[in-house]
Amino acid sequence: MSKIHHGGNVEEIAEKLNVPMEEIKDFSANINPLGFPSDLWNVLVQSFANIEVYPNPKYPELKKAIAQHLGINSDDVFVGNGATEILDETIRAEKATDALVLAPTFGEYERLFERIGVKTHHYYLQEENNFALEINELIDLLKTHHEITVICLTSPNNPTGQMISLKDLRKLADFCNKHHRLLILDESFIDLTIDEQPSFVNELTDQDRVYIVRAATKFFAIPGLRLGYGITKNAKLKTLLKIQENTWSVNGIADVFGQNMFRAKKYIELTHQWLDVQQPALYDALKKIPAIKVFPSITNFFLFKCTEPDLREKLIRQRILIRQCDDYEGLGAQYYRVAVKGPQDNVLLVNMLKEILGRDER
Ligand SMILES: Cc1ncc(COP(=O)(O)O)c(C=O)c1O
Repeated sequence: MSKIHHGGNVEEIAEKLNVPMEEIKDFSANINPLGFPSDLWNVLVQSFANIEVYPNPKYPELKKAIAQHLGINSDDVFVGNGATEILDETIRAEKATDALVLAPTFGEYERLFERIGVKTHHYYLQEENNFALEINELIDLLKTHHEITVICLTSPNNPTGQMISLKDLRKLADFCNKHHRLLILDESFIDLTIDEQPSFVNELTDQDRVYIVRAATKFFAIPGLRLGYGITKNAKLKTLLKIQENTWSVNGIADVFGQNMFRAKKYIELTHQWLDVQQPALYDALKKIPAIKVFPSITNFFLFKCTEPDLREKLIRQRILIRQCDDYEGLGAQYYRVAVKGPQDNVLLVNMLKEILGRDER
């Protein structure tokens, strides 16, 4: 696998252009544009006192807050330094030789599998199908590949924004339970979906060989603070994951933040109001640019295809950063991902794209 890069590298671009970081409009990282929930500043500042003591490595209050929010038991919850650490631990929990990931999808899975010697297979999503997953096709593939014991799926998927229905997930989970496979389901963007879509957490049973991975980093705009959590109800999976858990992986400040994050009700409501209006508005505006083929998405980013040479560089010159998807397995240099931001920024992006790509509208 070629080296993956991630969105959000504003520092590097600002340095290149010799401008302050604040002047770059970053559409490359899919972070809530409302920023950090200001109601929680005080809590956060008070938590600085915690830096002189170790956090409780069992994180009882943090797990309780997450469990209450999700309507599950604290014992079903695992916490970590971002969703990435939870992914790493769940991937290590199963002693697999072969795993399956979608293509295209978030590149970290493959990197995490490969560094512990697990071979990664791909299920190629089809552009003609808007990159939606055909669950029966995936199950048929698994039936002929007995060596694949871990399946790592993303819903909504990054960078396509496509969700897997709860019905399809149930079908796959039942297959995994029956055939002793493990499903790792990354729902890092589930709370940033239009009309907040239901999570598979609500469907989980203690029989399910399923880990669900969630992130606080995207919704609460804390990629620098870092907080992620994992959920399983299966006793055997819990035991295996406990073996892999790193000690004190959530720092004392993130611990306190997480205990309080779901109390920021107004912020949560405003976030959904922003997304439910701005996401469809950006989709409609992008659809009207003839040189772009934008794919439907349920979440806070869009994948589009455009053959204009050096589009990313041309936008960078205008201080706009988008994510080129050339390092995603199954995509190429003509694919790009843009995050949904506030109304002014979204209009700026669309206008700049129109300027670069020609103004005639459909
Ligand atoms: C699908 C997906 N899962 C997980 C992550 C990483 O989340 P975190 O920053 O919480 O580690 C990302 C980051 O872009 C992602 O796209």
